Amino acid sequence: MTVLIGGIAELRESLASMRTTSHTSGSIGLVPTMGALHAGHARLLEQARRECHSVVASIFINPLQFDRDDDLKQYPRMLERDVELCSTHGVDLVFAPTAGEMYPTAPLCTVEVGPLGDHLCGRYRPGHFRGVATVVLKLLEIVQPDAAYFGEKDAQQLAIVRRLVADFNVPVTIVGVPTVREKDGLAVSSRNSRLSPAERALAPSLYQALAEAARLIASGVDDVDVIKDRASKQVPRDPAVRLEYLEIVDPEDMQPVPRITGAVCVAAAMWVGSTRLIDNISC
Ligand code: PAF
Repeated sequence: MTVLIGGIAELRESLASMRTTSHTSGSIGLVPTMGALHAGHARLLEQARRECHSVVASIFINPLQFDRDDDLKQYPRMLERDVELCSTHGVDLVFAPTAGEMYPTAPLCTVEVGPLGDHLCGRYRPGHFRGVATVVLKLLEIVQPDAAYFGEKDAQQLAIVRRLVADFNVPVTIVGVPTVREKDGLAVSSRNSRLSPAERALAPSLYQALAEAARLIASGVDDVDVIKDRASKQVPRDPAVRLEYLEIVDPEDMQPVPRITGAVCVAAAMWVGSTRLIDNISC
């Protein structure tokens, strides 16, 4: 049975009894989410369920990581449905705190992520990764899981979380879970539900651009500017679409590479109407 908990003290009590009753193989897995759960989250929950004795899913729309008020307001909220989905995936505890529970006062101490957060999405969403790193550290402190699961779709977020736990010696294993895609390649995301049918038809061009970059890299092209230029041409010239960035970066420090000499991550963000989509591909 899935138990829904909103309070930190109550959650800690339940986790303490979980830890003592499951002392044989009592690993706890955390799947942090902002709700509006979809097939990508289901993949995270499934993997956590397979690998851990107990699974905690957090559902918290973290105001600290939104750089635009309208984005925060529009973020889909569907707690009842989310809890049901967690229940079908065998989640033991859903932690769904209010903003007041997580931030009783505006936090004075936040996590600065440095150059890891300056490029890619960080350049266009000031403060976003400070908000993500701060809430992830709080969730890890509150739940104290053995493993925490994050989608590879948010490659920069995943790189930052890995570095966060290394820098703060947080005793948790960070597990990256592959992106789930629709048949036409579009990465599954809560934001896809905001696309009109016409916008939805344009959205897969983001993946097509990344796939073109991957194809060029696999064929031996090593000039980053050539790859970026040809990949970007996959995005149609349409007033509804705007490629915000397409960058080729080192998968660990997320810094742009001058030339392809080893493994890279091609990451991109694209606006379709008023919806911002992100995706990446490892090559
Ligand atoms: O990826 C997300 O949904 C969020 O950024 C996270 C990791 C739950 C932190 O709020």
